[in-house]
Amino acid sequence: MTPIEPPKNMPLSEILPATPTLLMGAGPVPIPYQVAQANGLVISHLGETMNRVIARVKEMSKYVFQTTSDHILGLAGPGSAAMEMAITNLLGPGKKVLILNLGTFSARFGELAKRVGAEVIFLKGEDFKPFTVEQVEAELEKNHYDALTLVQGETSCGVKNIHLGPIAAAAKKRNVLVIVDAVCTLSTMPFKMDEWNIDVVMTCGQKGLSSIPGVSLIAFSEDAWKIIEQRNPPHWCLDAKLANRFWSKHEYHYTAPVSGILAIHEALRLICLETLEKRFERHLLSSHALQTGLERMGLQLFIPKEDRLNSVVAIQMPRDLKASDVLKHMLQTFNVEISGAFGLPIVRIGQMGEQCRFQNLSKVLYATGMSFKKFGTPIDMNQGMAQIDSLQNRLDP
Ligand SMILES: Cc1ncc(COP(=O)(O)O)c(C=O)c1O
Repeated sequence: MTPIEPPKNMPLSEILPATPTLLMGAGPVPIPYQVAQANGLVISHLGETMNRVIARVKEMSKYVFQTTSDHILGLAGPGSAAMEMAITNLLGPGKKVLILNLGTFSARFGELAKRVGAEVIFLKGEDFKPFTVEQVEAELEKNHYDALTLVQGETSCGVKNIHLGPIAAAAKKRNVLVIVDAVCTLSTMPFKMDEWNIDVVMTCGQKGLSSIPGVSLIAFSEDAWKIIEQRNPPHWCLDAKLANRFWSKHEYHYTAPVSGILAIHEALRLICLETLEKRFERHLLSSHALQTGLERMGLQLFIPKEDRLNSVVAIQMPRDLKASDVLKHMLQTFNVEISGAFGLPIVRIGQMGEQCRFQNLSKVLYATGMSFKKFGTPIDMNQGMAQIDSLQNRLDP
C-alpha cells in the first residue's frame, strides 16, 4: 500500500480572513479579551487550582442563574448537549413530557425526549405568539405530565416567552418539572430560577455569556436532583450524578474542557463585575436602538414589539429578495456576519454580550441597511443611523 503523505502545509492565516469577521448573528458572538486570554491556557483538570476555579464558576453561576441551588454542573458540549443532559437524566420510558413548541429549539427538546423513550406531546404555539398561562393550564388539566419544557427566547424566529414565570408556577402547582432553555437569554434579560420555581435551566458559552462554544452550564433544583439520584440515564458522558463527581467532589469523570471552563470563568466574572442589572439595561438599550434603527430605515421586523425577543432580532425579508444574497453581500463587503433562518423568510441579528457594544451595533446597522439597499429595498440610511449617535458612552462605559 502507498503510505499516506501529510497534506500540504497550510497555516490558519491562509484560511482565516485578514481581519476577523464581526459575528453579529445568533451565535457564536464576539468574546472579551479576558475570555480569549483564558481560553488560551491549559491547566490540569484535577488538583487544587482547578478546584478553586470550579468553586468560583459555581458561585458566580448562582448569581447569574439567580439560584441558591448547589446542583450546578458544567459540561463539555454545545447547548444541545446541556438540553440532552436535562432530558436524559429526568425522562425515559414511562415518563410523559409536554413540549411548548415555538420553533426549532423548543422542538429539539421533543426530539431528545423521544430518543430516550419518553412519551412526548407537543403543544404548538400559534402564529409565533408566546404561550399564555391559560393555554398551558388547559393542557395540564387534560393530562398528567412529569415535565414541561420551554425556551425563554426562541431564537429561530425571535419570540420571547413573556409568561415564563406564571407558566412555571402553573406547572409546579401540578407537580410537573419545569425545564427551561435560557441559552440566548441568560444574562441578557431577567431570569430568576428560584423565584420562578424553575427545576432545570441550561445555557451555553457562545451566546448571552459571550464565551466560547463547546462548554455549557446547567442548574438543577432540589426537586429535580432528588429524581436524578434515583435514575441511571443511558448517556454516560451526560450522567448528572457522574458529572457531579467532578463538579462537587473534585473526582474524575472525564477530562474536563479546562480552557473552556477558564474562559467561562472569565465570562461569568465580567458579568458579575458589570452586575445583571446594568447588563440587562445595556442589552435593552442596544437592542431597542437596533430595532428602531432598522424600522426607521424602512425594514420590517418579523415579531410584534410586545412579543419580540431582544437578544435575537428577526427582520422580515422583502418579497422577491433572497436572504442568502443579502448575507453574502454583507460578509463580502462589510465583513459582518448575521444569520439566516430555518426555512422562515427572515434574517436574524444577535444582541448578546459583546454584540451590544457601540462599534458593533453601528457596524451591523450600517452593513444591514446598505446591503438591503444594494438589492433594491428602499432604505433611508440617515434615519436609521440617527438612532445610535448618543449611545457610545452608555454601551462602552
Ligand atoms: C435557544 C437555543 N437553544 C439551544 C440552542 C442550541 O445550542 P447549540 O447550537 O450550542 O447546541 C440554540 C442555538 O442556536 C438556541 O438558539
